[in-house]
Amino acid sequence: MNNQKHILLLGSGGREHAFAWKLSRSPRCAKLFIAPGNTGTALCGQNVPLNPLDFSAIEHFVLENQINMVVVGPEEPLVNGIWDYFQEREQLKEIPVIGPSKAGAQMEGSKAWSKKFMQRHLIPTANYREFTSDNLEEGVQYLLHHSLPIVLKADGLAAGKGVVICQTHAEAIQEFREMLGGKFGTSGHRVVVEEFLSGIEFSVFVLTDGKTYKILPEAKDYKRIGEGDTGPNTGGMGAISPVPFVDDTLWQKVETRIIQPTVAGLRKEKIVYKGFIFIGLIRVNGEPFVIEYNCRMGDPETEVVLPRLKNDLVMLLDNCARGTLGRVNIRADQRAAATIFLVSGGYPGPYEKGKIIRGWENIVGSTVFHAGTTTNELGQLVTAGGRVMALTSLGKDIPSAVRQSKQNAHVIDYEGKNYRKDIGEDLFA
Ligand code: AMP
Ligand code: GLY
Repeated sequence: MNNQKHILLLGSGGREHAFAWKLSRSPRCAKLFIAPGNTGTALCGQNVPLNPLDFSAIEHFVLENQINMVVVGPEEPLVNGIWDYFQEREQLKEIPVIGPSKAGAQMEGSKAWSKKFMQRHLIPTANYREFTSDNLEEGVQYLLHHSLPIVLKADGLAAGKGVVICQTHAEAIQEFREMLGGKFGTSGHRVVVEEFLSGIEFSVFVLTDGKTYKILPEAKDYKRIGEGDTGPNTGGMGAISPVPFVDDTLWQKVETRIIQPTVAGLRKEKIVYKGFIFIGLIRVNGEPFVIEYNCRMGDPETEVVLPRLKNDLVMLLDNCARGTLGRVNIRADQRAAATIFLVSGGYPGPYEKGKIIRGWENIVGSTVFHAGTTTNELGQLVTAGGRVMALTSLGKDIPSAVRQSKQNAHVIDYEGKNYRKDIGEDLFA
């Protein structure tokens, strides 16, 4: 068996830079290509200008470059069936794709499907009903009698924008009609109407080979643009790991009531799943409920989870692909990790790009994970997206890890730089 891996990693965000950073540290990583990658991933391997959704271009690249492991960062290739594409082709089917089959990716690709899955396996989640344009008027009646606030979810992928929490019945009915009317394209042709759960959220990451599973360090992300969790949602302004309120009692409940029935349920339903399951959870009166499943790792959570993972990631993924995860023990750094995202001025609204980024080469004590950066014609690093770069630090506890990232956030400079200075503070208030 070939232990040296030629790896193709798909994606281009901060998550993928963290993956590339961790994969490239493995002695088993002989070659690493990232498609399409970013300025940061180019420091860990070779970027290749391929679209992760163009499966036939990926097929050619994989065969030409003797790739023997494909790691999928974002959800879209998985929901579109990249795993199945490889399985259906003689020359590709022995090459492991880390990520679920198309059937498994429905965990994220269809909210209605994942709610039904949870019902079938008695996994705690908010009560719900689903509607399409066929029973729109019944949906309106249902909304009128629903307690407030009301959570509406477009069934399909909607680039993180498909969940709307409505404070009034009028708002809910309008949003509901707009979703079914095509506001999110076909993603909203089915809408899940869900009971609002009030509590504190956290995220759990599981790697499964379809038989057994391993739990990675948990994390909590900060989604809102403003300090004190105010203002509009973003792709993520920061994250911390571990999560102090997730004690042994809560872990026990999460593992027995959620993780075990999820993995067992996939297996019972003969859904092939060899990859990461990201479970978004909420603690309500001490009890965990599932808010959502994702069929991939989180961003920016990966930027704190992988720095705390002591295992060789290539070996871990190889065991996942071979169905031998049971042999592995997960080892986590006992230190805490924090990441702070530097974003462009104006984000998540309109913002300017092309601002020269200074000071990033001299960062000491934090790891810089690039997301929205590029180099200009003079070779200078410039901003190229809303979320620019994440600064991850390890520390004896969360406040000291955050302090380290904040010091470095201060050192890096570009016009319009913005970041949250309160990451993790809510946990110690
Ligand atoms: P997204 O990451 O776009 O799927 O948005 C999901 C976010 O909406 C979660 O992180 C929660 O903050 C919120 N959310 C989703 N479902 C519920 C629910 N049933 N009760 C309360 N908040 C929810
Ligand atoms: N941080 C949330 C996500 O990756 O979906």
